[in-house]
Amino acid sequence: MKILAIETSCDETAAAVVEGEEKGWVKVLGEAVASSEEMHTKTGGVVPEVAAREQMTSMLPVVSQALEQAFGEKIESKNFREVVETKIDKIGVTVGPGLIGSLLVGVETAKTLAWVCNKPIVGVNHLRAHLYANFVDSNEKRGTGNKLPAVGLVVSGGHTELVVMKSLGEVEWVGGTRDDAAGECFDKCARILGLPYPGGPEIAALAERIEGRELRVEVGLPRPLIDSDDLDMSFSGLKVAVQRMVNNEQKTMSRKQKTENRGLVAEIAWELQEAVVEVLVSKLKLAVKRYSPNSVLVAGGVVANKRLREELESFGQELGVKIWVPELKYCTDNAVMVGAAAVFEPSPTPPEKLEVNPSLGIGE
Ligand code: KG4
Ligand code: ZN
Repeated sequence: MKILAIETSCDETAAAVVEGEEKGWVKVLGEAVASSEEMHTKTGGVVPEVAAREQMTSMLPVVSQALEQAFGEKIESKNFREVVETKIDKIGVTVGPGLIGSLLVGVETAKTLAWVCNKPIVGVNHLRAHLYANFVDSNEKRGTGNKLPAVGLVVSGGHTELVVMKSLGEVEWVGGTRDDAAGECFDKCARILGLPYPGGPEIAALAERIEGRELRVEVGLPRPLIDSDDLDMSFSGLKVAVQRMVNNEQKTMSRKQKTENRGLVAEIAWELQEAVVEVLVSKLKLAVKRYSPNSVLVAGGVVANKRLREELESFGQELGVKIWVPELKYCTDNAVMVGAAAVFEPSPTPPEKLEVNPSLGIGE
């Protein structure tokens, strides 16, 4: 079964061709991604209209590129349809959650291809797709194996959700953030600290400079809800604490000191990363103790964080449970995970019934 997958839920325009077997494995044949991240670095965050406009122009070139890589054939307007008709069995597309304009670009493209090329189409839940990235390996068949039932944590720019994945497609929400997502917390704090968007990698890079060094100033941040006996999380208070810390420090600084103040920013970045990682890992531990899963699936852009990956590894050893994290390139938004979701949750929807759902929940 070969699937053409499309992902446009936020600022990425991604397409992939994957081959796979339900209850088995997924192999990547071709993949391409275009991002408007550079434009959003200038605006300090994603501007939905800008993202959707960029996606309109990059959609077809990205799909062509994924098909070219998969089948080794130059794709042009004269053979585009024939290649999809003869080599693709199914189309998978993200229907939500995400930005409405962005989702529409992907879904309308997928619907058109499904109509014209007479292919079944599968609407994919972006959050579950992140979890399925754990069953994909670009070099070997990682597969579903005996990973389920699993505890899952999706931790991205828009979501921080804890779930139990009982079987493929059967996901129960068991906890998550009450307010900001962990990635959103990194992005908002980065903005306060004068760092570019997206903030997560910036915070991580600065924090790395501090690792193991003694802190010059007192930068204690709270670990919100870390001791609560539930799977609730909260990250919005951290940005307030970071803002307060910056305000206090800046009052006592000259302008020259402010511009040379990278040391303090790095220290705050380090402490922020520690706070977020500690909360995520401690809630995940609680979920593992509660649900005794066969494995843990962690996914989403924030899992690109090195410190989080290190902590997850030692937590796996401590609790004797296998923790899966996707290959780095499949942590942030991509279409391979959407292809995997279409393999593992294969029910098609008639194209005329397929609709975007910007606020789709992880279990829906
Ligand atoms: O999954 P993703 O690409 O998009 C959403 O679905 O939201 O996640 C993007 C988020 C952003 O908030 C970004 O700051 C964060 O992932 N991120 C990181 C790192 N790389 C990306 N956060 C911490 N450390 C990183 N290395
Ligand atoms: Zn995502």
